[in-house]
Amino acid sequence: MSDPYTDVQLIDKKGLRLDGRKLDELRPIKIEVGVLKRADGSCYLEWGENKVIVGVYGPREVHPRHMQNPMRGIVQARYNMVSFSVSERKRPGPDRRSSEISKLLSEALEHVVLTDRFPRTTVDVYIEVVQASAGTRCAGLTAASVALADAGIPMRDLIASVASGKVGDKLVLDLGQKEDNFGQADVPFAMVGRTGEVVLLQMDGHLTIEEFDTIMEMNRKASLEVYEIQKAALQDRYSSFTEEGEAEPDAPEEEKKDEKKEKKSSPPPKADKEPKDAKESKEPKDAKKPEDAKKPKEPKDAKESKEPKDAKKPEEPKEPKDAKEEPKAKGEKAPVPEEMVEEAIPEKDDKGPAGGDE
Ligand code: CDP
Repeated sequence: MSDPYTDVQLIDKKGLRLDGRKLDELRPIKIEVGVLKRADGSCYLEWGENKVIVGVYGPREVHPRHMQNPMRGIVQARYNMVSFSVSERKRPGPDRRSSEISKLLSEALEHVVLTDRFPRTTVDVYIEVVQASAGTRCAGLTAASVALADAGIPMRDLIASVASGKVGDKLVLDLGQKEDNFGQADVPFAMVGRTGEVVLLQMDGHLTIEEFDTIMEMNRKASLEVYEIQKAALQDRYSSFTEEGEAEPDAPEEEKKDEKKEKKSSPPPKADKEPKDAKESKEPKDAKKPEDAKKPKEPKDAKESKEPKDAKKPEEPKEPKDAKEEPKAKGEKAPVPEEMVEEAIPEKDDKGPAGGDE
């Protein structure tokens, strides 16, 4: 059946689509968690021919400061299609489309992130589309929620997303590139996996109310499939964790042993992160330890304990930062003694009230 508006044959006589899929069939989806060592959380996702990589940083202090919210944190997603992701070179940098998508995705993610646990901070979510083939906002959002979970950001649940539409007068699930370009309607959709709350819904083209209802049902059903794939990817990633932390599957046995020794002599990973993050903000610690979440809610203490200490001792956090990198360097440098890191933390706490401006 050819599209009424073009000569492109999008669905054949057997009812199959250009890539051989049935009308209600998803493209193959592959999700890999924790692919970037320097990011706090990350995810690589392949969805048909789409390839998306997401890095999460934070929570960290918001800049510019007027964007800070004393009651809660913010989620800032940045959707970007790289120049080589599409057939015609895309001009690098933000444009109207990517700004709109970034805003939509940020708002969707804020529905599931427990932002009240880390006031005044931001969680930055960088969504890089390295190969685009329709449905990239849905692929990006799906990957972003997995990367947030990987970063240990407190969340209510994952968001699963998919786009369906109308092609050659038929309603089809998960539009492919040509279906998106030459189809009659496109409905990107995202929902919270467990509750079914809709956190993203757009529509491009024309549908009757019945068609729209059917598409919503198709999207819901498919989102649950996506949700299962997301959960499986996270389970896959974290099932390899031991009490001592991550067992690196790629590292040779000897390196693993060295690493374990270093881990024992240096502070645990979360303590490592603190001093580095302390440079910018103390909240990251709080985000990962919900029981401490109340501390930043007292604005006075938070202000006193953060700003003056950073201003007075800019050097201090650098040492513990190295401590974080050293275990990764696998024995290249001696680990920073634990006392140094321990000293650095209480010092700041002590200083806070005394060193306040007020
Ligand atoms: O990717 P998504 O469906 O979320 O967004 P879209 O604006 O409907 O774009 C559909 C597809 O058009 C993208 O996935 C890209 O493959 C392609 N596109 C492109 O080739 N060049 C652009 N500047 C934007 C999109």
